[in-house]
Amino acid sequence: MAVAPLAPKGGLEGIIAGRSALCEIDGETGKLLYAGYDIADLAEHSSFEETCWLLWHGELPTQPELATLAQALGANLEPRATVWDVAADAPECADPMDLLRTQVSLLGMSDPDCADNGEHADHAKAIRLVAQSGVLVATSERIRTGLRPVDPDPTRSIAWNLLHLLHGDEPDEQDVRAVDVCLILHAEHGMNASTFAARVTAATLSDIHSAVVSAIGTLKGPLHGGANERVMELLRQLPDVDGTRAHIEQLLANRKRVMGFGHRVYRTEDPRATILRRHSRDLGERHGDTRWYELTVAVEKSVHQLKGLYPNVDLYSASVYTSLGFPQRLFTPIFAVSRMAGWTANIIEQHRDNRLIRPDSEYVGAPPRPYVPLSER
Ligand SMILES: CC(C)(COP(=O)(O)OP(=O)(O)OC[C@H]1O[C@@H](n2cnc3c(N)ncnc32)[C@H](O)[C@@H]1OP(=O)(O)O)[C@@H](O)C(=O)NCCC(=O)NCCS
Repeated sequence: MAVAPLAPKGGLEGIIAGRSALCEIDGETGKLLYAGYDIADLAEHSSFEETCWLLWHGELPTQPELATLAQALGANLEPRATVWDVAADAPECADPMDLLRTQVSLLGMSDPDCADNGEHADHAKAIRLVAQSGVLVATSERIRTGLRPVDPDPTRSIAWNLLHLLHGDEPDEQDVRAVDVCLILHAEHGMNASTFAARVTAATLSDIHSAVVSAIGTLKGPLHGGANERVMELLRQLPDVDGTRAHIEQLLANRKRVMGFGHRVYRTEDPRATILRRHSRDLGERHGDTRWYELTVAVEKSVHQLKGLYPNVDLYSASVYTSLGFPQRLFTPIFAVSRMAGWTANIIEQHRDNRLIRPDSEYVGAPPRPYVPLSER
C-alpha cells in the first residue's frame, strides 16, 4: 500500500490532520482568529465567557445567550467533593498538572452524562469542565498550602473567581480584566499538541473527560504549556537586566533552548505575546514592580539578536501571572483552565463529524527473521 511520505523533519510538521471551524492561524503574518474574530479584538472587547460561547457555537452570543451561559457556569462551579480528598492526599512533590489530570478523571467517572457522547451531553459536560477547572486549580492550591478554601461566587466571572479562590479576598477589577484577557488569549490554538491529543482520544468515540485528560497530560510538557513555568525559572536566574545577554549567550552556547521562544507555526511574533507584553508592563507598573517585565524585555532582545527567534505566548505570560500573584507551579494549570474552552470545543467538533484518527508510521526496524528459542540466545 502506498504511504504518504514523512514530513521532512518529522513531528507531523506542515501536515493537515483535520478540518476545524474554530481557529485560523497565519504563521507568516502573526494573525490568530477564533471563528473569524481577531484575537486582538476579542482581547480588547470580549470576555472569556463570550469566547467560550463563540468556540462552542461558532457565533458570538446574544445578551440572553450570554446571560444563560453565565448562569449555567455559575450553577456548575462546585465539583464533586471527592476531588478535594485527592488534593489533600497528593504527595508534596506532586505536580499540580498531575493533580488536575487526576481530578478531571475522577469527575469523568461521576459525571451525570458520563455514558452519553451526544452533542447535548457534550455541551453540558463542557460547561461543567470550564466552570470547575479554575475552582479545582485554585482550591487545590489552598488545600495543599494549608489555607482554608473559600467559596466561589456564582454571580461572578471565571476570571474573578480564579483570583478570589486563590487569594481569598475581593480581587481588584483591573486584575480581573487582566486574567480575563489571559483566559481569552490561551483559549484555543488550532491543532496544537494537546488539542491533537484530545481529538485523537475523542475520535475513538471515547468521552469528553477522557479526551481532556489526554490533553492535560500533553499540555504539561515543557515544549508545550509547561514552557511558561520554565520562563519564570529563567527570569529568576538572571542577575539583572545588564547581565541578561551574557546569561542567554551561555545558554545558547550550551545548546539549551530558551523557553518562551520559537513556534512550530509562527514565523514572526506570536500575536498573543504582543498583547501580553503590554499587560506585563501595565501590571508591573500598577503593582509597583516592573522588574519581571524589564527582565523579560531584556531576554527578548538578547534572544532576538543572538538567535533571531520571536517570543511565543509563554514568554510574557510568566511575568503577567507573577504580577497577578499566581505561584509559578500553577502557571501551566492556569493555562489548562483557559484551554479547557478550546479542548472541549474541538472534542464537540470531532464527535459531530467523526472519523478515527489513525496515521501510519514508516517501519525502520529489523527485516523479517526466524524466531530464536530462548535456550539459543
Ligand atoms: C516550540 C518549539 C518546540 C517548536 O519547535 P519545532 O517547530 O519543532 O522547531 P525545532 O525544534 O525543529 O527548532 C528549529 C530550530 O530553532 C531552534 N530553536 C527553536 N526554538 C528554540 C528556542 N526556544 N531556543 C533556542 N533554539 C530554538 C532549534 O534549536 C532548531 O535549531 P537547529 O535547526 O539549529 O537545531 C520550539 O521552538 C521550542 O522548543 N521552544 C521552546 C519551548 C516553548 O517555548 N514552548 C512553547 C510553545 S508555544
